[in-house]
Amino acid sequence: MKILITGICGFVGGYLSRCLVRAGHVVCGTRLEGERVPDFLRDTEIHVLDLTQKDAVGDVLRESEPDAVCHLAAQSSVALSWRDPAQTWEVNVIGLIHLLEGIRAMDSNPRILLIGSSEEYGKVTPEEIPLREDHSLRPGNPYAAGKAAQEMLGRLYAEAYGMDIIMVRAFNHTGPGQAPTFVIPDFAKRIAAMEKGQMPKELLVGNLEVVRDFSDVRDIVRGYAMLLEQGRAGEVYNIGSGQGYSIRDLLQRLLAMTVEAIAVSRDPARMRPSDVPVLIGDIRKITDHTGWKPEIPMDTTLRDVLEDWRQNDGLPGRK
Ligand code: GDD
Repeated sequence: MKILITGICGFVGGYLSRCLVRAGHVVCGTRLEGERVPDFLRDTEIHVLDLTQKDAVGDVLRESEPDAVCHLAAQSSVALSWRDPAQTWEVNVIGLIHLLEGIRAMDSNPRILLIGSSEEYGKVTPEEIPLREDHSLRPGNPYAAGKAAQEMLGRLYAEAYGMDIIMVRAFNHTGPGQAPTFVIPDFAKRIAAMEKGQMPKELLVGNLEVVRDFSDVRDIVRGYAMLLEQGRAGEVYNIGSGQGYSIRDLLQRLLAMTVEAIAVSRDPARMRPSDVPVLIGDIRKITDHTGWKPEIPMDTTLRDVLEDWRQNDGLPGRK
């Protein structure tokens, strides 16, 4: 299959493209103007595209003629969505409408994988954990509301026009190359800098009590590939580890990987206007439908991220 990955030069896009190529597919992709192309994508067909530009979206689809589309491109930061909700919706919702309309105008009916988020579930009580796909959505921030809207549009286009759309709710994932705006590389980057004597040994942190279902990006992209091949049209799938980790636990694991004595202090500026306390997914559906299961242990992921910052300054897109 020829698979178009929107946002191919992003953190997940690089891992996904390599996973799909290994599985025998041809990949092409889109990137934002000015976004760096990693060396391993130098020979790949990549179109510069701003998803908010309707006509440009149609042009890229006509030129690339994909058999499937994996829609990763997004404003992916919850924190940034509080600061700029309009831009978050412009890219994540209006951009998706342009993409769906462009695909609808094609003669073929390519399979589309829409990457949503566990944040769509929003505030849940401990009794509702683990979250199944049929659980209600109560998004608690502008990013989450946009991802829920994206999923509703996916359902609508699948039902109204018979388009081959699979929707995914991805739980938190990390790995080498993730931007340090996200919590694990944020901690790892600063621990590595402290080890090099580049900053004082005090780690300022936000809310350590929240519990999230974390996995390794390399497991997640393998799941996306399996969904593209074996997922069922019109269905929504959770993808994650099915395990809850508090941010405090993850931080302690990282701190146990360094010999430095590092003090941890709470920084009110790192707290969010509202943070969902617990999100853990039930991943039986994806396992039942595709056989996918996460494989990489959490300590391996954490060690790889820390090592990446120690050795390479964790440059995004390099991996
Ligand atoms: N970044 C950061 N820095 N987060 C911190 C810190 C800190 O110092 N201290 C605590 N946290 C908490 C945040 O408040 C949040 O609850 C949690 O760590 C995880 O934050 P992020 O890594 O920024 O990710 P996220 O959960 O907001 O969003 C990610 O996961 C979603 C899936 O659930 C993103 O990858 C989204 O795109 C994705 O949809």
